[in-house]
Amino acid sequence: MRLHVADHPLITHKLTVLRDKRTPSPVFRQLTHELVTLLAYEATRDVRVTPREIETPVTTTVGVEISSPRPLVVPILRAGLGMLEGMTTLIPTAEVGFLGMVRDDETLQPTTYAERLPDDLSGRQCFVVDPMLATGGSLGAAIEFLFARGADDVTAVCLLGTPEGVKMIEDMVGDRNVHLVLGALDEGLNDRAYIVPGLGDAGDRLYGTV
Ligand code: PRP
Ligand code: URA
Repeated sequence: MRLHVADHPLITHKLTVLRDKRTPSPVFRQLTHELVTLLAYEATRDVRVTPREIETPVTTTVGVEISSPRPLVVPILRAGLGMLEGMTTLIPTAEVGFLGMVRDDETLQPTTYAERLPDDLSGRQCFVVDPMLATGGSLGAAIEFLFARGADDVTAVCLLGTPEGVKMIEDMVGDRNVHLVLGALDEGLNDRAYIVPGLGDAGDRLYGTV
């Protein structure tokens, strides 16, 4: 697994506002969108492209276009939905699949309550988005879902991660082709498995249900 932790003052600045408990939902949503577009730049570094010949007003030249089959963006509901538009802004031709997962507060195990993905993901690059990588249970289950459908190239984009979550994904994926892109690597988890310092419950903060 390849891990990339962002190191850019604009990203750290936006994350700082996001972490602030006084930041209201509309600003939180807007910042999430802006952060995803910055992180997506790194996450799509290896997006597959095919050469394409075009004519400029001056001459003929060869550029590139995104290859087929088109990339698949998979937000993990609910909080991942806040990151979807940022990804599709950068890759407008991507298709979108959905995974609905919720973590049980007591057992910390994720349950999958919704799934709308293509049956066959062979040959597709998949981009999973979820703001929070805490214990790693939810993202790990999502990645396994994609591999079970034939995916062999998965990039996960999270705003915040923990060393525990990164290790869990690393151990789970082994030498499979997984790229993890984080906005920041936080200190760890508290006794309720919330990310510290974190930003609280991402879904509640995005959708105003605190
Ligand atoms: C949050 C978050 C991740 C998960 C992370 O979702 O968006 O999916 O928790 O925790 P983990 O790494 O320990 O699995 P939650 O289950 O709260 O659902 P929500 O998006 O509907 O709020
Ligand atoms: N889910 C969240 O939304 N926040 C955390 O800190 C951990 C899990």
